[in-house]
Amino acid sequence: MKIAVVHGVNLNFTGTREPSVYGLRTLEDINASIQAAADGLGCSLAFFQSNIEGEIVNFLQQCYHNKTDGVVINPGAFTHYSYALHDAIASIGIPAIEVHLSNIHRREEFRRNSVVAPVCAGQICGLGAYGYVLAIMALIHNKE
Ligand code: DQA
Repeated sequence: MKIAVVHGVNLNFTGTREPSVYGLRTLEDINASIQAAADGLGCSLAFFQSNIEGEIVNFLQQCYHNKTDGVVINPGAFTHYSYALHDAIASIGIPAIEVHLSNIHRREEFRRNSVVAPVCAGQICGLGAYGYVLAIMALIHNKE
């Protein structure tokens, strides 16, 4: 099973930006811990990060072409306004789960709305990097 883990805008700065909200671990550390947890789960992971909306759309379209089975996506702030990502996720027809490191529902009002949520199978937030692992487990479980 092929799963893509997609990190959106500003997530390359994790570990540096607002550590009280996002923690001290870098995105590299987080990806390594996701990979380590997924090693025993019988899936292959492809990691992608971009601060550019269109590059994420291009990557999601590649996921369609290379027959990726599931997408785990943290769009960062694109979550709250990117209809382009909404449409891309809807277009590819691959089960997607939205993940956020922080609990977007107990922060500023504008973070409570996700425009990608309606096209995702589910949303996991507030559990830090472990949320990505849970999302991968759910994609595998639901495929079986
Ligand atoms: C985030 C939450 C978003 O509101 C924010 O813009 C981010 C990170 C999270 O992982 O908690 O960049 O997606």
